[in-house]
Amino acid sequence: MDIEKQFETAFSRITLDNGQPLVSVEPEIVHGCVINNDFAKITLILPEDSPLRGSLPAQVEAEIKQIQQIERVAIEVLASPPQENDSSQTEPAHAAPQQPQRTAYLQNYEAIIAVASGKGGVGKSTVSVNLALALSQKGYKVSLFDADIYGPSLPIMTGRRGEKPSVAGNRLIPLETFGMHTLSIGNLVEENDAVIWRGPMVHQAIEQLLRDTNWPGGDFMIVDMPPGTGDAQLSISQLIELAGAVIVSTPQDVALIDAIKASQMFSKVEIDILGIVENMSFFACPKCGEETPIFSRHGAEETSKKIQAPFLGAVPIEIDVRKGGDEGKPLMASNLDSPATLAFKNIADNLVKVLEEV
Ligand SMILES: Nc1ncnc2c1ncn2[C@@H]1O[C@H](COP(=O)(O)OP(=O)(O)OP(=O)(O)O)[C@@H](O)[C@H]1O
Ligand SMILES: [Mg+2]
Repeated sequence: MDIEKQFETAFSRITLDNGQPLVSVEPEIVHGCVINNDFAKITLILPEDSPLRGSLPAQVEAEIKQIQQIERVAIEVLASPPQENDSSQTEPAHAAPQQPQRTAYLQNYEAIIAVASGKGGVGKSTVSVNLALALSQKGYKVSLFDADIYGPSLPIMTGRRGEKPSVAGNRLIPLETFGMHTLSIGNLVEENDAVIWRGPMVHQAIEQLLRDTNWPGGDFMIVDMPPGTGDAQLSISQLIELAGAVIVSTPQDVALIDAIKASQMFSKVEIDILGIVENMSFFACPKCGEETPIFSRHGAEETSKKIQAPFLGAVPIEIDVRKGGDEGKPLMASNLDSPATLAFKNIADNLVKVLEEV
């Protein structure tokens, strides 16, 4: 029996105290059902004063757990249906619980933001770490997740290379780094081991890091993506509900075309592009302050107009940015007063503004 039938059967078994089948109650109580592998999230609509709030969630959970494939169930109880534009929750479960597009991991974060690019080496990880720190310094509670399964760089960039996270029960505890919670596959496997992984393994690894980790929740989860539009991107877009993606690009055309590809990939899976960051935009001479456009400045800014995405800001090439990454103490943790420091602060401000608008 397919999974949708199994859910229909499970729901049809649930009756209220007066014998009325749950799925026939008007207005509908079972508002949404999101399934991902062994995880199901059910959204129930029950007014604040409904006596059903006491017993029904546990009853639904027990029935859904009977489904063989389902190991974990989350029941969300809302007083009224969520806004219509919240597309993940509008499917009535009894009609046809769909194999969902997105799921429910990391729901304890206000906004989950993927930092992505088409091309490798344009500074995604650098932007991820420093943007996360800039947000954290503004007083937000921030976590940072390295989804670059093939080439994780956060352990080095945050000075936690070779360190293993501790385990409580069978759950991983993220590392605490510069006031943020962080975790990378690089903290779990030997360096280079991940390079030979195939698609399904990538998906599994990412899912485990999301599912079996005690992510503490907070305002922002920044996800450092691998380059391109491959398995990891697809997994992330399926496993978590992103607020959107920040695309990093250098001003050069090649990188830009790739950035557009990445942005289209996110558009295809209906993930908003929150904005474009132009990295290595220019070189600001630390001695005289002159700004040299090594990679022809403003290219990314112009592309952002073409694809109608906000331009979040430009980060100059700066030796302290590179050094910070190599030495495990990111620029934004060093309290410098440099053009790149200002740029990251500015990008954090702009990102917060964009998020307030959407
Ligand atoms: N604004 C900058 N100024 C100076 N160096 C920079 C800047 N941005 C990135 N770098 C350096 O460029 C290199 C590549 O950056 P990074 O690792 O962040 O790129 P990436 O896009 O994450 O790469 P990958 O695609 O391999 O994941 C690093 O050595 C980093 O320190
Ligand atoms: Mg990287």
